[in-house]
Amino acid sequence: MRILSGIQPSGVLHMGNYFGMMRPAIALQAEGEAFYFIADYHALTSVRDAKVLRENSRRVALDFLACGLDPERAAVFRQSDVPYVTELAWILSTVAPMGLLERSHSYKDKLARGLPPSVGLFNYPVLMAADILIYDSDIVPVGKDQKQHIEITRDLAVKINETFGEIFKLPEPRIQAATEVVPGIDGQKMSKSYGNNIDIFAEEKEMRKRVMSIVTDSTPVEAPKDPSRSTIFQLYLLVASKNEIAEMRERFEKGGTGYGDFKNQLFEKLWEYFAPMRRRRDEILADKSYIDNVLARGAQRANEIADQVMERVRSAVGLG
Ligand code: ADP
Ligand code: TRP
Repeated sequence: MRILSGIQPSGVLHMGNYFGMMRPAIALQAEGEAFYFIADYHALTSVRDAKVLRENSRRVALDFLACGLDPERAAVFRQSDVPYVTELAWILSTVAPMGLLERSHSYKDKLARGLPPSVGLFNYPVLMAADILIYDSDIVPVGKDQKQHIEITRDLAVKINETFGEIFKLPEPRIQAATEVVPGIDGQKMSKSYGNNIDIFAEEKEMRKRVMSIVTDSTPVEAPKDPSRSTIFQLYLLVASKNEIAEMRERFEKGGTGYGDFKNQLFEKLWEYFAPMRRRRDEILADKSYIDNVLARGAQRANEIADQVMERVRSAVGLG
């Protein structure tokens, strides 16, 4: 079984990225042959500074490795180190219906947020389809917001298969129901573009500040509180043990504890949860060539597969 996922290097990683995509991807690396990449071609649709893009790409690789990605099991690489993927994106774009891409939620959201409507942004799902199909991927672990992209990938694969013969496997999304949408400090979906993120490698003071700014309702300290409607509790669910969760639930329902105390408890737990990853991150940083070596090995492995699949594609469509 081949597992593939990618993440854009467009900023620092937050709890939504970790629980929605990275943790499930890391868990899956033991179950098959994993390919995880830094989507730097995709990030070009929003990052327009070479230095920033390069630094962000290395940082995302560092953070992902620190979180437990194992380069002995998974090929970890930069998307742009496999340029074949842009060739496949072109071939897929020749069968991609305009209407299919016009219905893309993420395109519409990005325009609504003020990103310039470039052809690249419009074509984003086609490049993503190429990322997935070029490694004959079976499973794609992602957050819920990426589900439509996997559906588009399947549609394009079917179109190619119907037109040129069976070339592509149809990939399946793998979406964790429990962490489908991790809420941000304002209760909406956590996203760096909403500015409501809690970054997993934030400094202690910063992380505490973010947790303390979680928006709460005005229930008085002594009154019972509804845990299911509290962002504090929703985030605590992700990091605490069963007993700790039961204990917090009871204190919510009993009343007598203010949100400030719950926030402190959440912060302590969060800080503790990410402590081993912070330590691993420091170790990786101390070894200057580690990340470059991992990315080089990953790229080599990814290119071997991409090369074979592209042979098949080129031959089927009549190129070369
Ligand atoms: P952002 O919304 O901050 O820009 P991305 O779109 O770069 O995040 O998301 C990277 C990965 O993390 C995707 O697989 C996405 O589904 C997942 N993800 C991002 N935010 C969340 C969230 N709040 N809950 C669950 N998964 C998320
Ligand atoms: N679009 C994804 C995101 O914004 C990143 C991505 C690019 C990706 N190519 C992919 C994810 C292929 C899974 C598979 O998060």
